[in-house]
Amino acid sequence: MDYKTYIAERLPVGGISAEEIAEAITVPPDPTLGDLALPCFKFAKIMRKAPAAIAGELAAAYPTDGVVSSAVAVNGYLNFKINRTGLARETLSRILREGEKYGSSDLGAGKTVCIDYSSVNIAKPFHIGHLSTTVLGGALYRIFGFLGYHAVGINHLGDYGTQFGKLISAYKHWGNREDVEKGGIHAINELYVRFSREATEEMEKEAREYFRLIESGDREANELFEWFKSLTMEYVGKIYDRLHVTFDSYAGERFYIDKMQPVIDELKERGLLIESRGAQVVDLEPYGMSPFIVLRSDGASLYGTRDLAAAFYRKKTYDFDKCLYVVAYQQNLHFKQLFKVIELMGKDWAKDLVHVAYGMVSLEDGAMSTRQGNVVWLEDVISRCVEKAAAVLEEKNPDIENKAEVAEKVGVGAVIFGALYNSKIKDIVFSYDKALNFDGETSVYVQYTCARAKSVLTKARELGISPDITDAEPCEQESELLKALAEFPETVKAAAEKYEPSYVARFCVDTAQKFNKFYFGCKILQAEDDGIKKFRLALTEATLTTLTNGLMLLGIGVPEKM
Ligand code: ARG
Repeated sequence: MDYKTYIAERLPVGGISAEEIAEAITVPPDPTLGDLALPCFKFAKIMRKAPAAIAGELAAAYPTDGVVSSAVAVNGYLNFKINRTGLARETLSRILREGEKYGSSDLGAGKTVCIDYSSVNIAKPFHIGHLSTTVLGGALYRIFGFLGYHAVGINHLGDYGTQFGKLISAYKHWGNREDVEKGGIHAINELYVRFSREATEEMEKEAREYFRLIESGDREANELFEWFKSLTMEYVGKIYDRLHVTFDSYAGERFYIDKMQPVIDELKERGLLIESRGAQVVDLEPYGMSPFIVLRSDGASLYGTRDLAAAFYRKKTYDFDKCLYVVAYQQNLHFKQLFKVIELMGKDWAKDLVHVAYGMVSLEDGAMSTRQGNVVWLEDVISRCVEKAAAVLEEKNPDIENKAEVAEKVGVGAVIFGALYNSKIKDIVFSYDKALNFDGETSVYVQYTCARAKSVLTKARELGISPDITDAEPCEQESELLKALAEFPETVKAAAEKYEPSYVARFCVDTAQKFNKFYFGCKILQAEDDGIKKFRLALTEATLTTLTNGLMLLGIGVPEKM
């Protein structure tokens, strides 16, 4: 926490939020007046009192303590004197007291945020393009949860469409149970790719018929579909486990097929549906957009129709305060149209729908392309990164215990961090070597810093010295580190507000750097004074706690040793 927030939270001003007060606090031009000052002119109108009177009353009521040693009214200003070691101690004791809860809050109590993320397509490759939505969504899910919101993770499955008719047709012609059983999603994908290459006119017709059979509830067609679906879910489930992401709902496109009609009816009643070349559309021309197609000329629904029904369903089911769609920026227009249509339907909650768009991820050593079949599967990227992590670790520290477990944490962490470190809208080129650089702006660097802190704390325990918040006066490096640690709760809040887990990732790197300056600049266990030793141990423990919490929010674990 910074001093401004510290003061604002303790000022008994009714009717004005602590945030507003913190914002109003300034640094007085003359330092002899104080370290910080609150100009009370701003509040004169609301409080119906003269600024000088307000300053006087607040000065009398302000609870001075070890952090803020005085609060004095001067000409409509309320001037504060700050005790720098006081905040250091306050920050440290808060972190040690709150432990794994440090950075959390009840800001979102009673509020619900739906987060639509990862949203995998059945029987299609789960490729590197799905990395960002999966880890960004996963991080937002945890961040909102940490801030007290009720977060609902939704995997809006791509489980509806004519492609499933094609798949059944391909399977009937070229597939067999054993091969698919054995090859899983890869075998299914091959069948699909083969269909798009080799299907005859006849097979296309057949595929349409199979799709119709799925829709009409035909038993065999549905059994095949469910089988393909379960193979896909089993496959992605393993990846979700490795990336530490979870979902509360897997209601996908198919789930909404019988929930579209009431929404379509409402569109009609409101006179929003018009016919255009046989299709039923909502005209968005006045808003500079192409029409939103609700029903095709053959009466079939579209991706957007299902999304429309999904939005209404989510509002009714979860009564969300916000509904986020973590989807690539390629779908910008789709979401702009969707939100506009809901707004035109007179739903005030249209303003609570947010498209959390992100950029492309590609690999340094390989382009990705779909359809042709030479897709970069996400699973392969993760496995390769874990293998490389194992090699790097072997080189650094061959005696390490639980090698496989550490390599998994480091390798998976590097993949996640690679996708989360930059502002989400930027395109990313992922490089294994850069992501696994111990001295870079990487998760490995942060994890290594945590392991370093752990080892200091272990050594201290062996020596019988325990961390303690003593009266020691923090030196330059310690103050810098403390200031960083104090900012964690605000960082988490800002990350939620801007839908930017990168804030947390950057915080971790920045704080790790400050810890390492402290570690190399100050002696911890070799400090001469016992009070300083204990204080530095407390600071080490607080850093470990904060970094562990930060990495946890991103879905990254901390190895015991590395
Ligand atoms: N399955 C879709 C795709 O891969 C993403 C779905 C995103 N969510 C949504 N409600 N439209 O493009």
